[in-house]
Amino acid sequence: MVRLRVVAGVVGLSLAGGVLFTGSAALAEGDPAKGQRVFRQCQACHVMQEGMHRVGPSLHGVFGRQAGVVEGFRFSKPHADAGTNGLVWTEEVMFDYLENPRRYIPGNRMAFAGLRRPQDRLDVIAYIRENGGAAAE
Ligand code: HEC
Repeated sequence: MVRLRVVAGVVGLSLAGGVLFTGSAALAEGDPAKGQRVFRQCQACHVMQEGMHRVGPSLHGVFGRQAGVVEGFRFSKPHADAGTNGLVWTEEVMFDYLENPRRYIPGNRMAFAGLRRPQDRLDVIAYIRENGGAAAE
């Protein structure tokens, strides 16, 4: 009896997580505190403040948004085309992209080799989500 109830509790939790994290239990495991350290690799080119572009666009409100449409930033054609062709930044998509951005969008201008470790990607995604990157309400 007790064990059954525990199982039900776990199922309930992962269902709630599914709603919060757009259906991806795997991507719920990132640690934003560790992600802040990983984000230092992005900071030369990206900030989280809205409308502040550096070498790369602001990542404010990035989740849920079409790729390559941030106002005031000139994207490369390959990157903008990827958005026009339907690329939208979900956590899952960013997880794949960050492994090797140049392979994910050939010809894009982001001069970054990528994050090979899956946990680094999960952590930095959690950091971005919790620091202004979450989809606008
Ligand atoms: C050397 C500079 C540089 C670094 C480092 C860098 N980026 Fe970028 N990033 C760019 C540029 C430039 C673009 C625009 C690409 C284009 O237009 O082809 C971009 C685009 C992006 C986009 C797409 C935004 C959109 O609205 O379509 C995301 C997401 C992103 N970067 C995330 C990251 C993350 C996360 C890191 C760190 C793990 C990182 N970048 C590291 C320069 C950089």
